[in-house]
Amino acid sequence: MSQDLLKLLPEFNLIEDSDLRQKCIKTWEEGMRQGGWSAANLTRMPFTLLIPDCPASFVEHTRAVTLTCVRIADVFEQIYGDRNPVNRDCLVAGALIHDVGKLLEYTTEDGKTVKSEFGTKLRHPFSGVALAAQQGVPPDVLHMIAAHAKEGDLVQRSREAIILHHADFTSFETLKGG
Ligand SMILES: [Fe+2]
Repeated sequence: MSQDLLKLLPEFNLIEDSDLRQKCIKTWEEGMRQGGWSAANLTRMPFTLLIPDCPASFVEHTRAVTLTCVRIADVFEQIYGDRNPVNRDCLVAGALIHDVGKLLEYTTEDGKTVKSEFGTKLRHPFSGVALAAQQGVPPDVLHMIAAHAKEGDLVQRSREAIILHHADFTSFETLKGG
């Protein structure tokens, strides 16, 4: 399973801390197990049900958001240096698992991705934190999952969570067509 997942999401290899990388991979694997997703049907899962005929898959969105975060960190490092320091491992880990709760929020019915019964009770920031906490993902990364969407407007986001929030919404809003 890990090898299949690494093929889908090679950006896991950008997490330098092997313990953190393993915890993030296990979070995804547990989400896939609980949600009944396989590497094969995952590639057909749209990243959101809020955009009709969504042109991007869940895996593509996760990769795009993660790499957007990395590029932002690159520019900040180049221009601001240590005046705007970003914890890269935390940033990449949080980006890779920010939407992992969607594996429980969405399910497949007659070949279509739909909201699950569970998903009507808990949106993915909540289920994502629960999944990641079970695997021992540290609080700084849990914070990013918790605060990446609109629920996070109520809390003071960390620097990494701010970058993730904007990378995520940039992806969402542009794919939606403005
Ligand atoms: Fe997202």
